[in-house]
Amino acid sequence: MQTDRTEILFGPFSSLMEIVPLDKAIFITSRALRQRAEALLASSNATHAAASLKDMPHAAQKESGLRWIEVPDGEPCKTFPVLESVYHALLNLDANRDTVLVAIGGGSVSDLAGFVAHTWMRGIRLVLAPTTLLAMIDASIGGKNAIDVGYAKNIVGSFHMPSHILCDVAWLHSLSPQDLASGMAEAIKHALLDSEDHVEFLERIAMSGKALPELEAGAFKELVQRSQQVKLRYVQADFLDAHARHVLNYGHTFGHAIELLTGLPHGFAVSAGMTAANRFAVQRGALSLAAAERIERLLARFGLPTSMQAAFNLADRPIDKKALFELMRADKKRRSDIVDFVMPHAIGDLRIEEVTLPQLEAALEWLTKSASEDSTTRSAL
Ligand SMILES: NC(=O)c1ccc[n+]([C@@H]2O[C@H](COP(=O)([O-])OP(=O)(O)OC[C@H]3O[C@@H](n4cnc5c(N)ncnc54)[C@H](O)[C@@H]3O)[C@@H](O)[C@H]2O)c1
Repeated sequence: MQTDRTEILFGPFSSLMEIVPLDKAIFITSRALRQRAEALLASSNATHAAASLKDMPHAAQKESGLRWIEVPDGEPCKTFPVLESVYHALLNLDANRDTVLVAIGGGSVSDLAGFVAHTWMRGIRLVLAPTTLLAMIDASIGGKNAIDVGYAKNIVGSFHMPSHILCDVAWLHSLSPQDLASGMAEAIKHALLDSEDHVEFLERIAMSGKALPELEAGAFKELVQRSQQVKLRYVQADFLDAHARHVLNYGHTFGHAIELLTGLPHGFAVSAGMTAANRFAVQRGALSLAAAERIERLLARFGLPTSMQAAFNLADRPIDKKALFELMRADKKRRSDIVDFVMPHAIGDLRIEEVTLPQLEAALEWLTKSASEDSTTRSAL
């Protein structure tokens, strides 16, 4: 698939060697993934590697011969101290303007690497090899990158398009059930933004009786491709995230606040956030109750929380209405006392609507009162 400036490829991870000249590549990944990535690259094409490496500066030919930068696992890699350590590593590895930064990992690694690629010598080529479902369908698409500052997630960042995204769905089989389910929440979000047909596709997977890790490669590929196409549509309509792309924030007004207070994985919080947005929409007469319940059934099939109360139960924390509202109030997408809220009207029909803070506060009051305990999700983690 060719987007404006990015080529999205599906194939074995080892085909990275056909995309990136090894003498120009610097691989950035977490310790947890490096060994596997290194073994896959080494076993697939030792001869090719040896040939490409013969001109590489001696200082850079460390251990395997390829140049690697290891970063902490998960969200903790998106910090300024880690960013600075990556710049120092690039200096030590003789990175220059021709260097291609190759990020292997989930959205955390690609967010960090995207910012590094954007700023190192005012911009170098970036290639992404996403290894989580969330990274394949969401984080790797659209050119956004980010660094966290304290509790402010994704507060510093830029746009920097990768030249290529290489998706090897074989990575997905080793993901924890929790990380897979978290990615599924975003896949369901994309399906709801898209169409009845897309939702039915996910319902068939849910009803197949197979756990996600057992899904065959072909089904994973279709799931990822369908989802990517939805994200790409919005990115292409509004690359700089000025308005239309905000629809991708469906479920995030409540979801971000839930994530910060519960510490649940992003997709779990978004799942609870989408169901809260749906119930709010039902209350306002925008969405039918039948549609809201159908979406809750789909999310529940993948072990995702289907109410705010269920999310707080999962995290074993009491629900804190006041803190939830304060976090929603502080949301960076708010203007004065108006929030641009993504309001679901039907599958494939979600609209950005203005909601006032008092309306949101009243909804929160009502939602936390009416939320019932969801024992199915209590045991999902
Ligand atoms: N830039 C964007 O447009 C965008 C969009 C959505 C999310 N994000 C960002 O993405 C990040 C979340 O990404 P994520 O969900 O991929 O999480 P993650 O990158 O934090 O990875 C989650 C865990 O999965 C492990 N892992 C990765 N691949 C694996 C594999 N194949 N097998 C086993 N374990 C594996 C990682 O080591 C980590 O422990 C957040 O920082 C979020 O802000 C960015």
